[in-house]
Amino acid sequence: MPSQEINEYYDATESREIRSDLTFAVNIVGDPKIAIDCGCGAGADIEYLLASGFKVYGFDIEEESISRCKKRFKNNSDVILSKAGFSSYNYPRASLVVADASLFFCPKTEFDTVWRNISECLYPNGIFCGSFLGAEDTMAGPIYDKSAYWPEISVFDEKEVRAIFKGYEICHFTEHKTSGKTPQGIPHDWHIYSVVAKKSDNSSKKGA
Ligand SMILES: C[S@@+](CC[C@H](N)C(=O)[O-])C[C@H]1O[C@@H](n2cnc3c(N)ncnc32)[C@H](O)[C@@H]1O
Repeated sequence: MPSQEINEYYDATESREIRSDLTFAVNIVGDPKIAIDCGCGAGADIEYLLASGFKVYGFDIEEESISRCKKRFKNNSDVILSKAGFSSYNYPRASLVVADASLFFCPKTEFDTVWRNISECLYPNGIFCGSFLGAEDTMAGPIYDKSAYWPEISVFDEKEVRAIFKGYEICHFTEHKTSGKTPQGIPHDWHIYSVVAKKSDNSSKKGA
């Protein structure tokens, strides 16, 4: 059973606004229109990607996420959902990989392998669109309630984030530092690096 907080998070985000990085990524990605949404949550990005003409593979570690998305996209053969974690998911080939506010929860010890899998599944010229957690985010500090949300938190600094994108052209790189309230109305400091990057077209060798 998901915690009440996770349920509330999914309720609050299922119709959230689509982030500008994703609309940018969708506008620059080439064919075939195949996307993977890593940690798809309540499915807001899946819905946008579908409406943009993509076949979408979505996965999430939470049963609640997958059952909500199954209900939401029932009978749509262009949505393929799996309950899986970053490390266990079998990544299909794709031209776009989306990981919005989800790689935050990929254990740092598993990150290199996960990133290699993500990178290998992208076609040359494929696009990654996602975000990484910075040290000044509330979630990186002691107030974050690991018993209510996802317990593993991976924090990156700018140098580390940029180093991940060796073999890519970084199209958008933004460091967000803002304070406000979460979709559930809880005060929060955000410190997030969001990245849109294109895999180089001569990167046919693994891991590039
Ligand atoms: C903050 S939510 C973001 C959801 C969605 N991407 C969005 O932006 O609306 C993080 C999501 O990552 C999922 N998640 C956490 N740990 C994960 C893991 N190890 N593998 C896959 N998904 C994970 C959570 O279940 C949750 O749905």
